[in-house]
Order: sequence, then C-alpha cells, then structure tokens
Amino acid sequence: VTNFAEPTRAPDIYIVGLGIKSVQHLTLEAVGVLQICKKVLVVDHGFGVPDFIRELGPEVIDLIPEYREGQHRLITYETMAAKVVNEAMRASPVAFAIYGHPNWLVFPTELITEAAHLLGLAVEVIAGISCIDTLVLELGIDPATHGLQIFEASGLVIGEVDINASVPCVILQVDAFKTERYSRSRIDRERLNPLCDYLFRFYPADHEVISVYSSTHALLRPVIRRYRIDDLPRAFAEDTVSGTLYLPQVLRVAPGDGREERGV
Ligand SMILES: C[S@@+](CC[C@H](N)C(=O)[O-])C[C@H]1O[C@@H](n2cnc3c(N)ncnc32)[C@H](O)[C@@H]1O
Repeated sequence: VTNFAEPTRAPDIYIVGLGIKSVQHLTLEAVGVLQICKKVLVVDHGFGVPDFIRELGPEVIDLIPEYREGQHRLITYETMAAKVVNEAMRASPVAFAIYGHPNWLVFPTELITEAAHLLGLAVEVIAGISCIDTLVLELGIDPATHGLQIFEASGLVIGEVDINASVPCVILQVDAFKTERYSRSRIDRERLNPLCDYLFRFYPADHEVISVYSSTHALLRPVIRRYRIDDLPRAFAEDTVSGTLYLPQVLRVAPGDGREERGV
C-alpha cells in the first residue's frame, strides 16, 4: 500500500533538529526548511551554526543567551518557546532549530507544540541526528543482539524505574541530574551519589560505565572514557563528560563452554 502524506496546510512553525556535529549533521530536509523560514531561533553550541543558517537567508536569533547562570530551567524553556510562538504570530513560517533530534529530551518542543495547538498554528517537526545515533556509531554497537534501554537520569531515579542489567543501558542527562537550575560550573561530587546508589541496586560497584562525548565538530574526536560506577561522582566533577553514559550488559557465563559473553 502506498502511503503518501496527506496534504496539510503549510506549517507556521518548523521544529528542526540540527544534529550533533555542528553544520556537518544538517540534513538536506533541514536546510530546505530553514531556507524558506523568515526567522530561525537557534539553540546550538556548535561552532558556526547560527552563521551558516544566516547564510541560507533567514534572520537568525540565537537563543543560547537564554541559558542564564542559576536560572530555573523551566523559565529558560518557557522563554524560548514563547519567543518562537511570538515570532510565528508576527510573520510565519519560522523555525525553532535545536541541536540533536528535537524530540529527544527537548521540553521547548513540547511547549511550542502545545501553544501552537491552542493558537491554531501549524507545526511540523524535522528529524535530526541525535546523541543516540552518534553513540552507537562511536561505541561500535548495534542493539540487534542484546537490545538497548534508554533512560533520562533524574526520571530513572525519581520514578524508580527497573533496569534490566542483562540489556545494555544508556542514561542521558547525567550532567543535569536532579538540578533544576542551569549552571556552567562543574557538578559537585555529592550530587551524583543518589544516582550511583540507585545503579548499585542493579549492578556491582565496579561495573564498567562508558562516558560518551560525541564529536561536535569535524576537527574534534569523540571523548570516550571508561569508569567504574562508584567512580562517577569524581569523573563528573573532574573529567570531560557530556552527560551520556553507556552501561554494557552484565556479563553472564555462557552455558556449556564456560566462556563469558562479550560486552563492548
Ligand atoms: C537536553 S538533552 C538533548 C538531546 C538531544 N536532543 C539529542 O537528540 O541528542 C541533553 C543531553 O543529551 C546528551 N548529549 C548532548 N550532546 C551530546 C554529545 N555531544 N555527546 C553525547 N551526548 C550528548 C547528554 O546526555 C545531555 O545531557
């Protein structure tokens, strides 16, 4: 059955994923959309991204300054969403363009979509390359064999969600674990203790955790570091980490030959 998209009215707001590796991850679909927008409101720390989008034609508003030291994250996200919707009411189409994929842990996407619905504005979301895509590439894994479970760090602990230790596990936003306020300063050691305590319910303290900081520029290599779970508080206080952790599955002895299954 051919299933072509139903014709719909032209979007007033595009929510566009920019990918992880600055302009190199921009898809042709994203570029095509950004070209037809009057204004693009951008959230991307990547080098040269706002300039590149400006060269495509639209006026660019950099939303990075909305991250203010000590400010509650909800205020930042509400301000971003309000600015996007406000611009769309003035003259559409506009785009909210954000690093990664716009549906992976991006609260402004939800806020914009809800507000647009109430205001009768049409929204279209354009996929981007997410940190999950780059993680499987940089670790050389494929969930085909053992599967993959993905959690947001605070949600995991607050919701007391069960982890299946025999399935590889990704935990996102460890850098923002249980902190409502944005800060550029390093995470203090005590903050991660509840996360470690929670992980100890499912893993031994010396279980290996791999921190993945995917490349954000063509000239940068990904930063892959390996720790024990009980070393995470120190690592997040001192090391170069993004907030993404990969926990290989707990190794089991394969029946019969006594050999261990391979993790990563
Ligand atoms: C607000 S979420 C945004 C995720 C993004 N929408 C995506 O699709 O990748 C922020 C989290 O994404 C992950 N992240 C962002 N940039 C990353 C990078 N360069 N490498 C690895 N993980 C990254 C970290 O877990 C970080 O805490």
